[in-house]
Amino acid sequence: MPMSNIPIKTTIEIEIMRRNGQKLAKFMEILKNMIRPGLDVWVLEQKFIDLCLENKVIPACKGYAPGGLAPFPTGLCLSINDQSVHCYPVKGTILKDGDIVNIDTVIMDLGLHVDSAFACGVGSISKENRSLLKASEDALYTAIDKIRSGIKIGLLSETMEMSVKKCGYNVLQEYAGHGIGRQMHEIPEIPCFGNSNFGPIIKDGMVLAVESLVCEKNSRLVHNSVWVTKTADGGNFVQFEHTVLVTKNGYEILTKI
Ligand code: MF3
Ligand code: CO
Repeated sequence: MPMSNIPIKTTIEIEIMRRNGQKLAKFMEILKNMIRPGLDVWVLEQKFIDLCLENKVIPACKGYAPGGLAPFPTGLCLSINDQSVHCYPVKGTILKDGDIVNIDTVIMDLGLHVDSAFACGVGSISKENRSLLKASEDALYTAIDKIRSGIKIGLLSETMEMSVKKCGYNVLQEYAGHGIGRQMHEIPEIPCFGNSNFGPIIKDGMVLAVESLVCEKNSRLVHNSVWVTKTADGGNFVQFEHTVLVTKNGYEILTKI
């Protein structure tokens, strides 16, 4: 097992991440309440950028260009139905009754990032979509509830995978949760599948962005550009994510009010 250099946050860093997390939670609540049939998704992007300006935080996805990739174009990641991770809002895309929409974003202030995502239905959605949303949200909270100093990352992966499969759905394998802090993406990687005996041991003071990335059908993706992905078989995709501080006896969800 290689030595792990997973950053342990200082008290001051934790305080800043906690404050950033509370801001992001409020932004997400505001965006969620705007979602309705007939809305142009660009309105959500504009509202998010306005909230960042008013609250003096940086929309960290906008311009993000890891490893020389084309810079991410917007502040929000936003995907509808069979669109998967890292899709972005395009002006003129109108939400329809029955759609499901995922919003995923990162803000940064004083050098520290927080990351969160939610999915929700537009208007009235099918029973199948309601069950898919619940499966992804339940998987996230069930996995987060295992967090405490001393466990291996694999326990979170195994918990998410089992929780999702029990509901008859599949987890994405190409993308994963991650450590977060000074960088948007830090070690460790937190896959949505795996085994509790694997992965680095987590310790209090680490901060993890846990993501439940759930596909209604097969988890194979089609890549339409560096960022834009969709499911190969047209099944829907649902994600939930929180930034979570590991504490001695448990955890604290930083991006939840
Ligand atoms: N939660 C997403 C992730 O960790 C946030 C991506 S922001 C982007 O990948 F800029 F990379 F799109
Ligand atoms: Co993330």
